[in-house]
This record gives sequence, structure tokens and C-alpha cells, in this order.
Amino acid sequence: MPITALNPGQQKASGIASDGAKPAPKQLAMRYDARAKVTGTAKYAGEFRAPTDAVYAFVVQSTIPSGSIASIDQAAATKSSGVLAVITPFNAPKLPPANPQPPARRHITVLQEREIFYNGQPVAVVVARSLPEAIQAASLLRITYRQTAAKLRFRERLGEARPPKFPGREPAAQTRGDMAAAMSKGTVRVEQTYTTPYQHHNPMEPHATLAWWEGGKLNVYDSTQYIAGDCMTIARTLGIPTDNVHLECPYTGGGFGCKGSTWSHVILAAMAAKVVGKPVKLALERPQMWGPVGGRPTTVQQIKLAATQDGKITGVQHDVIVHTSLMEDFLEPSADQTRMLYASEACATSHKMVDMNLGVATFMRAPGESNGTAALETAMDELALALKMDPVQLRLTNYAEKDPGSDKPWSSKHLRECYEQAGERFGWSKRNPQPASMREGNKLIGWGMATATYPANRSAAQALVRILTNGHAFVGCGSQDLGTGTYTIMAQTAGDTLGIDPRLVEAKLGDSTLPKAPASGGSQSAASICPAISAAAMQAKLKVAQLAINDPESPLHGAIVADISASDGRLFLSSSPGSSDSYADILSRNGGKAVEALGSTEPGEDSTAMSTHSFGAVFAEVAVDAETYMVEVRRIVATYDIGTLINDTTGINQLEGGIVWGVGFALHEESHLDETYGRYVNANLAEYHVPVNADIGKLDVTVLNIPDIKFNPLGARGIGEIGITGTAAAVGNAIFHATGKRIRNFPITLDKLMNA
Ligand code: MOS
Repeated sequence: MPITALNPGQQKASGIASDGAKPAPKQLAMRYDARAKVTGTAKYAGEFRAPTDAVYAFVVQSTIPSGSIASIDQAAATKSSGVLAVITPFNAPKLPPANPQPPARRHITVLQEREIFYNGQPVAVVVARSLPEAIQAASLLRITYRQTAAKLRFRERLGEARPPKFPGREPAAQTRGDMAAAMSKGTVRVEQTYTTPYQHHNPMEPHATLAWWEGGKLNVYDSTQYIAGDCMTIARTLGIPTDNVHLECPYTGGGFGCKGSTWSHVILAAMAAKVVGKPVKLALERPQMWGPVGGRPTTVQQIKLAATQDGKITGVQHDVIVHTSLMEDFLEPSADQTRMLYASEACATSHKMVDMNLGVATFMRAPGESNGTAALETAMDELALALKMDPVQLRLTNYAEKDPGSDKPWSSKHLRECYEQAGERFGWSKRNPQPASMREGNKLIGWGMATATYPANRSAAQALVRILTNGHAFVGCGSQDLGTGTYTIMAQTAGDTLGIDPRLVEAKLGDSTLPKAPASGGSQSAASICPAISAAAMQAKLKVAQLAINDPESPLHGAIVADISASDGRLFLSSSPGSSDSYADILSRNGGKAVEALGSTEPGEDSTAMSTHSFGAVFAEVAVDAETYMVEVRRIVATYDIGTLINDTTGINQLEGGIVWGVGFALHEESHLDETYGRYVNANLAEYHVPVNADIGKLDVTVLNIPDIKFNPLGARGIGEIGITGTAAAVGNAIFHATGKRIRNFPITLDKLMNA
């Protein structure tokens, strides 16, 4: 089936010069896991069975935001039907002293303390034969607390903001150039404050863990974005060797960052399994996704932009305040993109945090750049208006030819082409710059745009490739597939390097016994594991080639390795393509055994010498009802510079998913905190609004597909997160263009528009 039939919005760019010469790899037109997903045979953590029947654990959460547990009366709960154990801080097995270390350090509460840091903190686990029995018994626990004053009003505590105790990717505060001079030189200024709300990831599959012990060995099925890190954190927290933990996760039903760390329920499931001596299944209920498993911090962002009359930005200042928990600092680096996105004489950025009685925040799709671009790209729209300059022109006027923050060259940057291509597809040149100038009957029409950007990350990874005697292949890598397409690109990359049809390649991931891969976070999986797979496949291919060279019966006998290529399951001589031999024949004549190789790759030395980022341009059209201010996003046109697009189907789908989330960020998404009691009042999918199909108009997503071969041999940068960046601002800027009303408090709901 042609790929374009699956993705009507997708068309390859043409006529754009390529930085590299590598042809696009042969693609798997259908998702590797499509059949398993649609037929329901794909199993998720909570659906697995242990060797013996599992029992069920239910997490009991604190009902106060701050203080300590005074007592727990568990008599009635313990006697309740089916109950096997009631585990509380008064009787929980003692774990070694907390040793929260990277990779994904999180301070988790696992019944080792009586102190309460937030409302919703796990305070007990009830284990019973069935889930209803566990829930029933949980309701019978009598817990008394000593309550203390809670810090829950973020906006009233901004004065207490302090620098983070731990740095993020980059220093929390940074200044470049002479800010005072630059700000006074710029005669056109924008100085505004933008706010973004608490948000909580809600993948289709909530967190779930199935755990059982075999002596000192722990077996775990867990829904995770990071097999290796999950294993390591479980082992360290429980005080057992990492090798004693076997973890499996063949499918992750979405993650978006919340499954990048190991949270309390995972440890509690293992602890409960130890206590009752049986396999324990622990799945979080939907409302439990708000609090104990992270979320996106709320932000207040102050931006100052100064420019000369010709639109040249002289100075930019971006000061961010986020909330954090009392247990641990998590920094949402919302000003990071402001350091690198536009050229300017001077730039000052800072991040501070306010301690709150809330659960630890964590990575949530494009942590930093999602809400950071929402603020910065709205401010840029305001500057364009003040300058009476076209918003695209303003961005081109301040185009950064190298990274202004690090002063390093880009590994590859084609943002200019993104503006051009998306602008043309959108019809931007027909825009009347005057706000509130386009009307269709009762609808106010607006066109807005913004820049998208996200860093290109890459980590060390390993993979195993095996060429089988039947000419098929196997690729194994301890990565994980969040529904993003990891299986698909694994099979594709191995097949492409081996010259074997990717449909004949079996891919296995999601098992801690496989070669180690990094977290599927920071948009790094494809860029990290594909080079390792490619390297493994290359070595496996060479091993078979060597067998053929040494084999008098082979047409390749005596050939030199450099002359051997592979295609359609055969090795052949480049100098004489008629001379060929199939993998299957070579292997059957030479011992009849599969041949395998391990590939191990890491970022090249170049990675520190260059700045590696992806870019994009997002254009949005909205229709706003002139009376009700109901906003309809009619269409979004976006073009991205993400290096090589490894797979059209899964890649474009990821970008589209990010854009849909960006629309939700702009219009819908917000966790409403009860600032007296400290729980989120809309902790369910009925009241936590996210876009549905009816909220998303036409999406036209294209990529330039220009390989970034300085970043990695495949030229591919990650694409998991960039789609959400820029989108919220593009929608907000379109709403301003439609109505003349600027809402700086996301989400842009109709009450805010009506009262503006
Ligand atoms: Mo992503 S927020 O790095 O899982």
C-alpha cells in the first residue's frame, strides 16, 4: 500500500538540497505491531499472567496535603473479605536508606515515612484476592493525621521563588551580552507575563505493575518508557542486585514522560508480592494519575523583548517561575529555547521554583519547550504587531545562523525552508495583517503562526542482530515502544542494513535481558538505537560475507569484503551483480547455524562541538464565534526540519499527535487544584479536557527530510516532542488575529475571551 494513502496530509518536500547523500531507507509501510494492536493480542503490563494466580493491590492515598500520619486502625480492613495484607508505614518492610540516583531520580514515598508531603501520597497498600475486595477493605482503614499548614497557593507565593537545588539540562540562569545596553537600544518593546496551568499526562494505559518473586529474584511486568532505568531503580530501592530484576514491557500504552521514572506503585507492588508471597498486580485508577506519578508544573513566565525599528531583536529576557514539590526539585526548563532560537545582542534567562505541597512533577512531552514556546512565540507575535511587521518576517530578520546560546554551529538547520514551505501550503501571503479583519458571517477568522523547536538528543545504545538460516533476521534491543513505532523502525533499520525485506525481520524489545537501550524520552530513541541496530546488522552481514568468501562453493568465493553488497536477502558483488549468494544458502552450507552480532554505539565526538536541534513552522487558522467566543481550529499546517524521516507512517503520526496536544494546550488542558485541600478537582477524563476529533480540523504535516548526518549516521533526529512546541502559540496568535484579544493565561477558554 502506498504510504501516502495512509497519510493524506503527508507529502515529501521536493526541490530542496540535501546535506547528505544517503537514500531514504526501505520503509515498512504498515506498523510492525499493527496486527497485534488491532486484534488485541498485544498485551500490556496489567494484562499479563504470572506463573501462579495473582492477587490485587490497591493504593490508599493521604487525604491531607501536609503533616504526618498519627495512627492507622487497620483492624476492620484486615478482617475484610479476601484480604491478605494491609501494609502501612507502621508495618512495611524496611528498605535501605533512600538512594535516589540518576538515571531517572525521583523521590518516591514507599511507606518508609509517616510524613505527608501532598494530598494523594500513598499511605497504605491493601492486598486482596480480588480488586473489589481490596478496594472495599481500603475504605475500612481508619487513618488519623496531624495536619500542618500546606503550601498550595502558587500565585501568592511567587515572592518565595528560589533557584533549583539541582541544575537541569543547562544552568538554571544564564546571561549573554550586555542586557542593559541591549534593552535600551531597542526602542520597540514587549514586556508581558504569560502563565500555563498544572497539567497531567494521561496515556490511554494508566500505570500498571505485575510483580512476583522467585527466591531473591524479582520478576516484573511494568508499563515503562525506560526498561533499564526501571530495573536499576527497582533494584536500588529494594536493595537487591540489578541482575536479580527481570523486567518485561513489550507494549507501553503511551507514556509522554510519566513512565520515564519509576514511581511508588512499582516498588509497592514488589513489596506487596514479598509480603504475601504471591504475584501481585497493581494498576492505578485514572484519578490516581493526578499526583503520585508526576505532571507538568504550572509556570509564570515573564518575557521582555526589545527591538530596533527594523525588527532586529537587541535584547530578550525570559524569567520563569515553576512550582516544585517538597520532596524533590524538578525543573521545567521553559526558558531554554529562548537561549537558542533567535539571534540577539543580549539574552538573559532564569528559572526559579516555589515549594508546594504537591506530588513531584516530571517530564511531560517537551518539558520546557512546550510551555516555553507558548510564551516566547506569543511574545514574538506581540512584537511583530508592535513593529507592524509580518510575524514570519520578524522571525527571518532574527534568524540564528548559529546557536546564539552556545555559539556553536548547528549540526544542520533548515528552519527558513520550514517557514517557506508551510507558509506556502497555508497561503500565508494572503493574510490581512489587521487583527479582527477577516469575518465569515458570525465567525471571526484568524491566522497565526509560531516557530517549533526541540533539542536533538542521543545516548549510548546496544542491539543484537541475528541472521537466521531461513534468510530471515532477528533484531533485539532493550528499548520500549510507547505506540510510537519503535518496533517498526527496528525491523526496518535491521532489514535495510542487511538487505533483507523488513517484513522478514522479527523485532524484540521491552525485556531487560536484551542489550541496553536508553529511556524513550527526550525524543532520543530512534536516534540512539537505530545506529546501534545498523552497526550490529553491518557486523552480522560481514560475518556471513566472510563465510561466503571462504566457501569454495560460493559465487563470492575469494571476493574482497569491500566489493560485497546486500539486497533482497542476497549478498552480491558490486563489481559483478550477477555473482550472488543468498544468506540462507551461505548459512546452510556453512554449519547451518544463525550468525549474530552485537552493535554498540554512542554519540560521536562531534556531538559536543555542535548544537543539535530540530525546528519547525506551525501555521493555524481559527474561526471564533463572535458571540460565544467558541474557538474552532480549522486547520494547522506545519513543516518540520527533523533530519531524515525514518518512517512516514509512524513519523508523521507522531508529529500529528504532538500538534493535537498543542491544540489541547492552547484551548483545553488544565488540572484545577483545590487550593485548600490540595487535590485536583477534575482528576478524570470527563473534566480534564483534551481535544477530540471534532476539535481538530485539517492537519497538513510535512517534513523537509534533509538528513542531519553530523548528528548520526542515519541523519535522523527525534520527533516525539517537537509537534507540541509552537502549536499553542500559533493557535493563540490566530485567536488574537481573529478577535484582537490577547489571552496570556493558557488555556485560552471562552470565558477568558469573553471577559477580555
Ligand atoms: Mo518525554 S517528556 O522526554 O517522555
